Amino acid sequence: MHILSTNQFTKSEVDAILLRSGEMEKSLRDPKTATLLSGKIVASIFFEPSTRTRLSFETAAIRLGADIISAENAMGNSSAFKGETIEDTARMLSCYSDAIVMRHPTFGSVEKAASVTKTPIINAGDGANQHPSQGLLDLYTILKEEGRLENLTIGFVGDILNSRTLRSLVPLLILYPNNKFYFVSPKELVLAKEYREYLKKNNVNFEEKNNLEDILPKLDVLYMTRVQKERFLNIAEYEKVKDSFILKINDVKKLKDTAIILHPLPRVNEIDHEIDSDKRAAYFRQAQNGLYVRMSLLLTVFDL
Ligand code: NCD
Repeated sequence: MHILSTNQFTKSEVDAILLRSGEMEKSLRDPKTATLLSGKIVASIFFEPSTRTRLSFETAAIRLGADIISAENAMGNSSAFKGETIEDTARMLSCYSDAIVMRHPTFGSVEKAASVTKTPIINAGDGANQHPSQGLLDLYTILKEEGRLENLTIGFVGDILNSRTLRSLVPLLILYPNNKFYFVSPKELVLAKEYREYLKKNNVNFEEKNNLEDILPKLDVLYMTRVQKERFLNIAEYEKVKDSFILKINDVKKLKDTAIILHPLPRVNEIDHEIDSDKRAAYFRQAQNGLYVRMSLLLTVFDL
């Protein structure tokens, strides 16, 4: 089984992944956990920069007893540099490994890789399309912090156009009843037209805004995003919008006491550092949860 998009999951599959993530968190250092994937080899190949996703997937594999083969900076250090196609690279990795974790800058490329091999591939981010393990770790974090996945008001802020983490989290949250979304961005970074259509077709309850002020008190989850510099063709366009939304301590004062602030990280300057010590700042806890959720996903692709 490949994991390419969060759209592929039913609610019961998502619930099972979340449950398993909780078990992984509890049993992280149990000797039995360290044998669950013994004898397996996981290939991790990243054609785009990463800190959390790559290192937590690799840690997850090691914690489960698997071995890792890894190509970081694969655009320059793998045969992609010589012009090899993503399909041929996938064919080769499937000769050596039992599962592949892949990140690539091109929308749809990981699906292409998956089309030529039965070795499970996990999409670790493909352009502005999908980042399913991030969506699931975001969901796990919301459940842990808020105690529920329904009746939530979620505000996504920043680069609504290019955020693959948004595109992975929204399909998961709409599996649960009565969730409402606000998408807050400068006018240059609003939802892509086709994505707006997709949301409407799926009866998603959402509003688009270009101002944060009036929605802050309504939110249960404030999800900040980085303006995705690498997706801009023109650096002047990036400079124009990069500081559109910077969360300040005064904004946080307007949030509910029970709200949480998420960010997939890395942050550039979207969140003032003095907010880090507020109990509602959940982004580092969120990143830590990535380890448990990625352990759960590795077990899932091995049908364990
Ligand atoms: C995100 C990504 O790569 O899409 N990072 C991550 O995996 N935690 C968000 C980002 O890079 O802004």
